[in-house]
Amino acid sequence: MREKNIHPVFEQVVQKERKEKFLQQKAHTLWLTGLSGSGKTTLGIAIEQELLKKGFLTQILDGDNIRSGINNNLKFTRKARTENIRRISEVTKLFLDCGIITINCFISPNEKIRSLAKDIIGRENFIEIHVNASLETCEKRDVKGLYKKARLGLISNFTGISSPFEPPKNPEITVNTGELTVENSVKQVLDYVLPKIKYI
Ligand code: ADX
Repeated sequence: MREKNIHPVFEQVVQKERKEKFLQQKAHTLWLTGLSGSGKTTLGIAIEQELLKKGFLTQILDGDNIRSGINNNLKFTRKARTENIRRISEVTKLFLDCGIITINCFISPNEKIRSLAKDIIGRENFIEIHVNASLETCEKRDVKGLYKKARLGLISNFTGISSPFEPPKNPEITVNTGELTVENSVKQVLDYVLPKIKYI
């Protein structure tokens, strides 16, 4: 809730449109949701590199990074995850207002949390991408060794093991990272995204 004595100056700030024109791009959020180990960060980084080559300015926002800085006081209860996504969404909005394309890599495990993000960021700017790999695949990869710890009961509320993941119902894109190469995953995303972010 907004504090009574706060006087925001949103309307005096240089408009997003002018910044988009300056950058020659349309700011959108590419929101990557999926299990830990599904490939969100790998895909996000590869998308960023490709977009940079094509002249687009982007910013990656990633769970592990954000949780080691601005959100380092948040755990993995439903309430803490909601606060995690709320803050990230507010930060995302600042980037969008600056004309920058954001690539958000967060488990964001349920519809309610993703809906909160959409409401804050604006549905018209939001491209939901399901980074889809089965729990079995993610657990087999176990890049960070977290699934093993979760199975041993050393991590509580671990997504997919002791905390639920609801796949998005109507994502703009589903990338089957268990089957595709990173290169083909990037291509699938860019085929959809490029027409939306091109400045015309
Ligand atoms: S979210 O659910 O709040 O969206 P977020 O994407 O920020 O999660 O953070 C997920 C990352 O935190 C995982 O990739 C993993 O490295 C780490 N992590 C640590 N504990 C947990 C846990 N209990 N559940 C899921 N991820 C965890």
